[in-house]
Amino acid sequence: MASENARCLVTGGAGFIGSHLVERLVHDGFRTTMLDDLSAGSSSYLSEAATLVEGDVRDAGLVDDLIKDADYEFHLAAYTSAPGSLDEPQICIEINTLGTLNILQSARRHKVRKIIFPSSPAAPGRQVVRRTPAGSRLPAPIVQL
Ligand SMILES: NC(=O)c1ccc[n+]([C@@H]2O[C@H](COP(=O)([O-])OP(=O)(O)OC[C@H]3O[C@@H](n4cnc5c(N)ncnc54)[C@H](O)[C@@H]3O)[C@@H](O)[C@H]2O)c1
Repeated sequence: MASENARCLVTGGAGFIGSHLVERLVHDGFRTTMLDDLSAGSSSYLSEAATLVEGDVRDAGLVDDLIKDADYEFHLAAYTSAPGSLDEPQICIEINTLGTLNILQSARRHKVRKIIFPSSPAAPGRQVVRRTPAGSRLPAPIVQL
């Protein structure tokens, strides 16, 4: 990634990973904007050299406005509490799924060069390896959740 005049948008830039990433991007000379609703992150971690827009990835218009000025998008805004997702599944899906869809659609519309999106350690869960019975015609999953 070349930093000269390149613009980065970090959604979730006030969070644990985002705040460290923003520090590094600013250090490397990227013009960096963060979109974060500060529901979990904190503005006190943030680099003053980056611009914070306080808002929500569920706001498709706002996301679109910010992405159109970005060369690279790091999507780290997320509902990250696994137990919370059981209590508030609707909100979790709205943020993690529909919020991500907003990012992807705007990035495609505005031809963003790259989107960087981490998976979650919660995704694979605890891996259980089971043998498929001999002679079974069932497809064997690589990982069973
Ligand atoms: N921390 C880890 O060990 C780890 C490992 C692998 C992947 N990840 C993934 O990286 C991403 C970031 O993780 P993290 O540990 O920095 O989480 P975090 O909770 O510290 O940061 C998430 C940020 O998103 C913001 N946010 C939440 N909802 C929002 C919304 N609707 N609109 C805008 N901003 C919103 C929060 O305020 C917070 O600043 C997540 O997708 C997580 O699953 C984390």
